[in-house]
Amino acid sequence: PKAPPPPAPTEAEKAAMLAALPAPYNAGDLENGRRAFARCRSCHTITPGGPNMAGPNLYGVFGRQAGALDKYSYSHALRSAGFTWDADKLDHWLENPRTFLPGNKMTFAGLRDATDRRDVIAFLKVETGYKTTGE
Ligand code: HEC
Repeated sequence: PKAPPPPAPTEAEKAAMLAALPAPYNAGDLENGRRAFARCRSCHTITPGGPNMAGPNLYGVFGRQAGALDKYSYSHALRSAGFTWDADKLDHWLENPRTFLPGNKMTFAGLRDATDRRDVIAFLKVETGYKTTGE
């Protein structure tokens, strides 16, 4: 049986997760991050146990190996990338997915605005960084 989804983090827990990020991400504007993430929602869910769509579910992506979800069919490039996602890796990926990791299949032009990237990374940390039950 599937474990029940964890409770959503409280505002205080969200603030602590934000503060734990390195600069400049710890100064991220979560509301702007939520707006910027609208550009990702057609391909990604972020809730625990959320479905894979064109792209993989992003819950728990911080600290996870790139290309590591069993149930998602990654490109060879991402599956074999051999790094762990952190804020800086996400920043480079989101600035220009194609040049960051040639051969990947994320057809997204990139977020050129550094503030939008900072904010979307902060938003992702707060929305996907909390622990699932039993982890
Ligand atoms: C048009 C669909 C699409 C859009 C829009 C999109 N992505 Fe993706 N994303 C993908 C696909 C497809 C992959 C898998 C790439 C591969 O396997 O090479 C992916 C992979 C990823 C990964 C790697 C996940 C892992 O498990 O290693 C992250 C992180 C990510 N996307 C974040 C984002 C964010 C944040 C945005 C918005 C700023 C975004 N993506 C926009 C399709 C998309």
